[in-house]
Amino acid sequence: MAFHCMFLFAIFLVFPLSTIAQSYKNVSLGSTLTTSDVTKFWPSPSGDFAFGFQRIRNGSSGFLLAIWFNKLEGKTIVWSANRNNIVPEGSKVELSIDGRLVLTDPNGQEIWARDTASAGPVYGAMLDTGNFVLATSSSGILWPSFDEPTDTILPGQVLNQRSSGNQVSFNQSGIYLHAANGTLLTLISSSNETNSTSGQFYQQAILEYDGVFRHYVYPKRSSSGRPMVWSSLHSIPDNICLLLPQHLERQGVACGFNSLCSMGTDRRPRCDCPIKYILNDPKDKLGSCNLNFPEQVFKDESRGVEAFTMHEMLHTNWIGSDYEYYGDVTEDWCKQNCLSDCHCVAAVHHPRKECWKKRYPLLNGRTDPAEYVFKFKGKYPKKLSAYQDVPGVNIRSFSYNELEEATNGFEEQLGTGAFSTGYKAVLNDDNGKRVTVMKLHKTVTEGEQGFLAEVNSIRRTNHNNLVQLLGFCNEGQHRLLMYEHMETGSLADLLFKYSRLSWSQRVQVAIDTAKGLCYLHEECSTQIIHSDIMPQNVLLDEGLTAKIADFGIAKLLRKDQTRTTTKIRGTRGYVAQEWFRNMPITVKVDVYSFGILLLELICCRKSYKQDVANENEMILAEWACDCYRRKELHLLAGDDEEAVEDIEMFKKLLMVAIWCIQENPALRPSMKKVMLTLEGSVEVSIPPDPFSFICFV
Ligand SMILES: *[C@@H]1O[C@H](CO)[C@@H](O)[C@H](O)[C@H]1NC(C)=O
Ligand SMILES: *[C@@H]1O[C@H](CO)[C@@H](O)[C@H](O)[C@H]1NC(C)=O
Ligand SMILES: *[C@@H]1O[C@H](CO)[C@@H](O)[C@H](O)[C@H]1NC(C)=O
Ligand SMILES: *[C@@H]1O[C@H](CO)[C@@H](O)[C@H](O)[C@H]1NC(C)=O
Ligand SMILES: *[C@@H]1O[C@H](CO)[C@@H](O)[C@H](O)[C@H]1NC(C)=O
Ligand SMILES: *[C@@H]1O[C@H](CO)[C@@H](O)[C@H](O)[C@H]1NC(C)=O
Repeated sequence: MAFHCMFLFAIFLVFPLSTIAQSYKNVSLGSTLTTSDVTKFWPSPSGDFAFGFQRIRNGSSGFLLAIWFNKLEGKTIVWSANRNNIVPEGSKVELSIDGRLVLTDPNGQEIWARDTASAGPVYGAMLDTGNFVLATSSSGILWPSFDEPTDTILPGQVLNQRSSGNQVSFNQSGIYLHAANGTLLTLISSSNETNSTSGQFYQQAILEYDGVFRHYVYPKRSSSGRPMVWSSLHSIPDNICLLLPQHLERQGVACGFNSLCSMGTDRRPRCDCPIKYILNDPKDKLGSCNLNFPEQVFKDESRGVEAFTMHEMLHTNWIGSDYEYYGDVTEDWCKQNCLSDCHCVAAVHHPRKECWKKRYPLLNGRTDPAEYVFKFKGKYPKKLSAYQDVPGVNIRSFSYNELEEATNGFEEQLGTGAFSTGYKAVLNDDNGKRVTVMKLHKTVTEGEQGFLAEVNSIRRTNHNNLVQLLGFCNEGQHRLLMYEHMETGSLADLLFKYSRLSWSQRVQVAIDTAKGLCYLHEECSTQIIHSDIMPQNVLLDEGLTAKIADFGIAKLLRKDQTRTTTKIRGTRGYVAQEWFRNMPITVKVDVYSFGILLLELICCRKSYKQDVANENEMILAEWACDCYRRKELHLLAGDDEEAVEDIEMFKKLLMVAIWCIQENPALRPSMKKVMLTLEGSVEVSIPPDPFSFICFV
């Protein structure tokens, strides 16, 4: 023990003081440097190194008291006194009269100091090795900066391993590990291939942010054939991508969860997200990757084995997410087994006929030629493309927090319907785009297993007369849908609250709505019964194109709509009698609701109104039929001159409406027929009177 202390002591005292005194520009007692003039510093005799302040950007701007390579472009810092305590403009360093090296902030507060605790004259010197020392002529060096390395060591510097007494030493030939007795244990990193012994290179070794110790060289002259930058000769570990954490269930050493680590030519790790994964935080390139689709998709039982596919990844493996192992199985067996297992997100097959199944999240991923024998396959839904990037239909999965933020804490309610409440929302990451967020009522979503499957089918509905679904949230108990925002508002507001739409505009709204419903009933991949058609659910964009809203919600309900049901869906006044009579629910319930809506459109009044001149006008459907029967259409048209002038069209729409509101669902026309009639390509016949067994004549 005593021996090795002596040895260390010797290291620092071997510098002959005479040489320091001769060749170094002494920093005399009382000398100061300030941040206000960073062109003043204390250089080493050769000018290779300098001691002083360097301005750094730390968000604002501050200063480091540092030692740097003064001849290099980047003024590479190799040591600093205050890296955890950046000082502001107006700070100062002084070699005080009593031999202390002191850094003070503008208030005179001491930030950092080194005391020589020595009697006698003291001076400072920046040596050509990069070592700044405090020394006296009588007893030599009292404090070397080499004794307090930050993250960098330089040739000439020695690190002591306190417990073993071993030493790491760095000279022009390389970095060595010596035992306490001086025996060479290991050559840590050799500089020999760079000709650095010939003094053509600057060298440094840094313990870096990623935990890797790297040995760098920088050519002194451009003629040496190497680029004029710091380039890494060796690193420890050699390949951090292959390093495993002590606990395998933790994320990788160099990259985050699900990420794949590979070594760049610059000997730095690169982290890449595998296919179908994206960075959790786009700014954190070394961070974790997330599935680019909801994880629940895997667990969704309504998707069969055939809904997924597996993609082979070359030279790839993830270590530590295995949850099942099988021996003596074929590659195809391994693949099929993973495909049919909702926990399995990836599988590895080895030619020894071994199979490992891996779960989410994937850990310690690496891409390395050494992994070539394994066949690694990542699993993802086949329909993902239909899920994520159908042209013109971009639907996103949002977190509850994102929607909470977009709605400003669900601040502004737009309205409440039978199944959901709508909220005003703004998408900040989409240039402040206005959208509408519908929060599904709890009772609606309770026990709803196939939410995602349903959202997936809704998203494929894409029609000019349907409000476009933009996104959804399926997080815990939260089920929300995001729709495009409709500038002009609901038909209910336009018709009953504000100025009237003109007759021709109303006819167009009728045609638009019929088109939208026809699409839901007949043109979608799966038939959708809206079941809540009413003016509140017909929205108009700025061009007054009518679009049906909330069809998605009805779709979500379809699952528990058995053929006969006593649960009434929809809104009073618009619901067909099937709901009350234990009859099968078909698309014809929507035809009925459309008929009521059509009457409201042509007559510009609500289906039920109390303050009317005659009692028989209260229920619009009954009154309209009366007027039709008595051929008193002008009573219905009222003071709407445009409608009166177009009374043939008015009559046609009235007849279509009466067909739609027939008690017997089988008598009601299809929405396709309604649409064709409204557009004029099909004639309308005289309808039966829905309120009596006597036919109209
Ligand atoms: C540096 O300081 C020491 C001690 O004060 C002195 O002996 C020496 O002459 C000085 N050298 C130079 C070059 O100023
Ligand atoms: C940046 O430097 C200022 C002094 O100029 C200091 O007050 C601040 O705490 C520093 N910020 C960080 C993040 O280090
Ligand atoms: C560097 O140190 C090693 C080990 O102590 C020694 O063998 C080598 O000669 C030294 N090289 C130089 C240039 O001093
Ligand atoms: C020096 O120390 C090393 C390791 O501690 C040991 O293996 C070696 O025998 C010692 N050599 C001498 C000469 O003591
Ligand atoms: C350079 O050092 C390596 C060890 O890092 C050694 O194997 C090699 O022989 C050395 N080359 C020369 C030319 O000294
Ligand atoms: C080392 O230096 C010699 C001559 O100085 C030169 O021929 C050789 O190419 C250099 N090697 C490297 C790796 O730079």
